[in-house]
Amino acid sequence: MKNGLEDVVAAETSLSDVDGAAGRLIIKGRSLDDLIGSATYEDVAALLLDGMFDTCIDAASLRKIIGKARVEVFAHLEAVDENLLALPPVDAMRALIARLPDAEDFQSASLLLAAPAVVLPGLLRLQAGHEPIAPDAEQSQSQDILTMLKGTPPSAQQIAALDAYLVTISDHGLNASTFASRVIASTRAGLVSSVLAAISALKGPLHGGAPGPVLDMLDAIAVPSAARGWIETALDRGDRLMGFGHRVYRVRDPRADALKAALKPLVAAGQVDAQKVALAESVERAALDILKERKPDRPLDVNVEFYTALLLDVLGFPRQAFTGVFAIGRTVGWIAHAREQALEGRLIRPRSLYVGPLPQAA
Ligand code: ACO
Repeated sequence: MKNGLEDVVAAETSLSDVDGAAGRLIIKGRSLDDLIGSATYEDVAALLLDGMFDTCIDAASLRKIIGKARVEVFAHLEAVDENLLALPPVDAMRALIARLPDAEDFQSASLLLAAPAVVLPGLLRLQAGHEPIAPDAEQSQSQDILTMLKGTPPSAQQIAALDAYLVTISDHGLNASTFASRVIASTRAGLVSSVLAAISALKGPLHGGAPGPVLDMLDAIAVPSAARGWIETALDRGDRLMGFGHRVYRVRDPRADALKAALKPLVAAGQVDAQKVALAESVERAALDILKERKPDRPLDVNVEFYTALLLDVLGFPRQAFTGVFAIGRTVGWIAHAREQALEGRLIRPRSLYVGPLPQAA
């Protein structure tokens, strides 16, 4: 049964607009197509945070501020113990972020922008039995994340690809995690509380938890000729195909093509196994054909998570960390929405429709 809330407008925002019929995403007046390839993570972060704090921040200043914050946050990795290391990376990341001071000011925001970027690579290295690599305040966020992940300098194409990913997923209307962030902000709890709530919503497999299972699917299919049979069997079992379908888009998710395009320079530079890309394209084609045959009345197209899986794999992130990388990129959107909500000043308090039994008359 549908919950009937799809069309309820729960917030006014000037941050981003998702046009599900046209397959268009606008971020603060700029189309995704326009931002991709021209904007870095810091550019889009400055764009989204513009006007949200007393401090006026341009992209160059923000780069320095986040760089310094990364160095500050690194100390929190000392709190990692065996119990934290045994958790999935996104859960361990959430626990470490919870240690930050929970305020509503720009200082809190800058630590939050830095925290997932430092904590996730550090946790992944510790889980793999290596020492974490200290951040370098002089590097861009994307360059430093990849350096902290691998311990070797990333290529220019890899940095550009991660920038493209972080820009693409920076904000996306009132999705489940962003709504969670706004609800918390409306109570005037701090930004850390907002981001923790958002991460908790993001990690579910119907939201930001999908790309790991997408990669599992690609691995299981292994060769293009097996795609159709594998997909038919999965759907016969009643499974949903991860990386397909969307609550708002009735056409292709524009972020899928942005990420597919971001892979091209890596392919051209010989830094990706071209067979992996060809396999993903075959699986995508087979899935779209089969979904059309099986659900002719429900347009189901590819969503952002499908090519996220391929891109993050190619960049060297392990699949269990994909949701955490999503959180690195989306944190700026969550903060911007939290601030927009707090500045509006109204508590979010929707009403429920009671459909339970009534007390018996005496
Ligand atoms: N595979 C197979 N069938 C699907 C899929 C899918 N991926 N998505 C929807 N359907 C089917 C449903 O089974 C349903 O069929 P029915 O009417 O016969 O029962 C019909 O399409 C409508 O589905 P809804 O549940 O109404 O779609 P909803 O808008 O609630 O779901 C969602 C959106 C959750 C994203 C869904 O498409 C899904 O589960 N996709 C797979 C998970 C995924 O990729 N999530 C990432 C989304 S992007 C993001 O959050 C960053």
